[in-house]
This record gives sequence, structure tokens and C-alpha cells, in this order.
Amino acid sequence: MEVVLAASALVRRYPTPGGPLTVLEGVDLQVRAGETWAIQGPSGSGKSTLLHLLAGLDRPTSGGVWWGATAVHDLAPEAAARARSGRVGLVFQQHHLLADLTALENVTLPGRVRGRPDRARGLDLLASVDLAARADAVPRTLSGGERLRVAVARALYGSPRVVLADEPTGSLDRASADTVVEALLRAAGADGAAVVLVTHDERVAARADRRAWLDEGRLTGDHRTSDATTRGG
Ligand SMILES: Nc1ncnc2c1ncn2[C@@H]1O[C@H](COP(=O)(O)OP(=O)(O)OP(=O)(O)O)[C@@H](O)[C@H]1O
Ligand SMILES: [Mg+2]
Repeated sequence: MEVVLAASALVRRYPTPGGPLTVLEGVDLQVRAGETWAIQGPSGSGKSTLLHLLAGLDRPTSGGVWWGATAVHDLAPEAAARARSGRVGLVFQQHHLLADLTALENVTLPGRVRGRPDRARGLDLLASVDLAARADAVPRTLSGGERLRVAVARALYGSPRVVLADEPTGSLDRASADTVVEALLRAAGADGAAVVLVTHDERVAARADRRAWLDEGRLTGDHRTSDATTRGG
């Protein structure tokens, strides 16, 4: 299968008052079309740092990120934003729904920016996250889990090849968290999008095709879940 997202020898160092802090020390990753990945690791191990690099929201100290054939690490922020649209969907903890727009308008926002929102596609996606009945609701009248599911639908709107999700369930109770992850995996599956999901939840990770563990700057254990008896690699 085609590689839709790749990272090679990815290093990210942050300058700190005590000297440079190396968070990623050479991360390699290859995500193929339609695969689901769960990335786990201790707090502070660099999971969000990695996802920001994969999303083209931050640039590596060295090493590279590719969306298909596009070398993301060479792009300036505006060029990365343009390249991202229609290729990479993001579901981050700060989901930034626009308060004055309905759920449906939030989902079709990328189309509105280009002047031509696809209402039918927006409604299909809301249905795929079980929110068809709330299409006209504004965010403040939705629960936290419902808002996250709107963010999932919005991330899928442009038919991205891959969706990056950073702990989208962190602030929810278990039942709502399960509903969000369920919706993400089902909707992405229906759309053929690969998913890279950062999670602390073992049960969520067990749902992914592949699992990887980030610790001490390295990503290990990209085994298939069905073969997995132990964590790590
Ligand atoms: N802009 C920054 N400047 C300096 N250090 C940073 C910066 N961003 C993150 N760090 C540090 O890098 C390390 C990794 O942070 P990151 O947010 O990627 O961890 P994480 O695995 O996502 O943690 P969590 O599970 O708590 O969300 C931490 O030690 C953090 O303090
Ligand atoms: Mg994090």
C-alpha cells in the first residue's frame, strides 16, 4: 500500500534556559493508506511534539516529514497550510469550532473559505459521527464529546489521506471518549483515511491496526496489534 505519511530521522530540540532539550532523537514512521496507528508514551515524551511536526505546524531540527511525495519540512507555514488542505485532517484537543457557526457550517468551513460549501457532504459526515440531528446546533449547545465529533467530521471534510488526532478524548468520561474514537475510526474508515491517534487509553490503542511507543526520543514497536502480546519492539 501507498505510504501517505512518512517521517525519517526526525529530531526536535527545544532551546531552554538550561540548554537544548532534545525531545525527539531520530523518529522514523511510515503510515500506509487506510492504516490506523496508536501512539502511546509517558507524559512529556514528545507525542504532541511529534504530531505537530507530522501536521506541518512545527519544523524539525533535522530529519524530514513527507505527505506522499511532498516534503513538508521544506515548506514555509503558509505553503504547509495550503498543502495540508485536502491531504491532512487535524483533530487536536483545542478543536477551535467557531462559536457563531452551526455544527454543519463548522464542518463545511474549508469549503466556505473556497466559496463553495458542500452541504450534502457535511450532512453525510455529521451522520457518520451520529450527529445528523444536531446539524443546526451551535457549539455552546453541544456536549464536549459532541463538539469533538463535529471536529472529527470537519477534519474529514476535505477527504484527507490521513487524520492526525492528539488525545481527542482527554477531557471526556470513558463513554463519551469511546463514542468519539469510535466515530473517528468509523468515519475515517468509510472515507479511506489513515489515522494517527495519540492516546493514553489502552483500550483505544488496542483498536488500532498498529501501535507505537514513544520514549526517550525514539518510536518503537510498530507491530500489528493482532500480533502484539507485549508493548515495545
Ligand atoms: N515550545 C517548547 N519549548 C520548550 N520545551 C517544550 C516546548 N514544547 C514542549 N516542550 C517540552 O518537550 C517535552 C515533550 O512535550 P510534549 O508536549 O510533546 O509531550 P507529550 O508526550 O505530548 O505529553 P502529554 O502526554 O503530557 O501531552 C516536554 O518535556 C515539554 O516540556
Ligand atoms: Mg501531549
